[in-house]
Amino acid sequence: MRHLIDTTDISVAEVDQILETALDIIANRKKYSEACKGKKLATLFYEPSTRTRLSFTSAMMELGGNVLGFSDAASSSVSKGETVADTVRVIGCFADIIAMRHSKEGAPLVASHYSEVPIINAGDGSHAHPTQTLTDLLTIRREKGRLNDLTIGFCGDLKFGRTVHSLIKALSRYTGINVILIAPEELRLPSYIRREVCDKNHVPTREVATMEEVMSELDILYMTRVQKERFLDEEEFERLKDSFILNPERLRTAKKDMIILHPLPRVNEITRAVDNDPRAAYFRQVENGKFVRMALIYTLLKWAEERPTTPTPRLDTTLVNNSQRCSNRQCISNCEDVDHLFRTTENGDQRCVYCEARVK
Ligand code: NCD
Repeated sequence: MRHLIDTTDISVAEVDQILETALDIIANRKKYSEACKGKKLATLFYEPSTRTRLSFTSAMMELGGNVLGFSDAASSSVSKGETVADTVRVIGCFADIIAMRHSKEGAPLVASHYSEVPIINAGDGSHAHPTQTLTDLLTIRREKGRLNDLTIGFCGDLKFGRTVHSLIKALSRYTGINVILIAPEELRLPSYIRREVCDKNHVPTREVATMEEVMSELDILYMTRVQKERFLDEEEFERLKDSFILNPERLRTAKKDMIILHPLPRVNEITRAVDNDPRAAYFRQVENGKFVRMALIYTLLKWAEERPTTPTPRLDTTLVNNSQRCSNRQCISNCEDVDHLFRTTENGDQRCVYCEARVK
């Protein structure tokens, strides 16, 4: 069974196939209107969402399928203490495919270990958000016509912003990618992504303090919200929340064909005056999210029918070490009774397989 838990669970060729399908859906909407007739998508959202959940729902409806699920953990059996593993075994009896969002990092991976139907990670804590990445890739492809030879500036909360982590991982598999990191000291990109993703794939990265100093170099400016819900210290959030604000003045030196992306919701980080700039692509990006999720649901269901016994490549029971604990309190392995999984990196560090935190 194939799942989408991390951006790299699917090869570059498979990403390409999904993007091609999305483009075909855009060009031939009618052709797909009954493509998933009789199939059901369950949306299990343990954490708030507007766009992602509704875009999954709308995607499945446009494919002629049905949708069930919950948008609030309090209204499900989770509030009675049911584990992720049990929940997906139960839901697999009712649905053909599951999209799950969870505040605990690695929860969708746990789900994939127990599920009889494909699991899609719709965002797990600060860790990953692979369907936003597919959305971003489709948008870049449609706006820029390519996925290589791009200088992309990531601005804002690069520490807790899961969309940034997933997109950098995905882009590191293309050629000519140049990453510029624009963040306050406290919200810098996790070092494992810089070292084990960018450096390893020879993707140059540079940290800068202001967007102005790099604006003229950028092909893409990827803005993000400071992730209030991930802060343990409210004062720190208050101090950092308005670190970077994009306004027309700051865009003065930007290339004419640069594009501005944002996974949304936006709070203060892009002023309303930027919305009318043709380079502002963030609302077009939302629509691409629906098309790419249509393509993803369609593809995963097709794979499940064609190749039901294909394992997800990254599952490996030799990684079990139940005598060790992950140091990340937000990791699912510290919240539910699951096997503890660790992998050894090239420089000898131990990393939790669920959330990728380094074992201290
Ligand atoms: C993002 C998320 O949930 O991580 N939103 C989304 O899915 N479009 C970004 C955010 O919440 O800031």
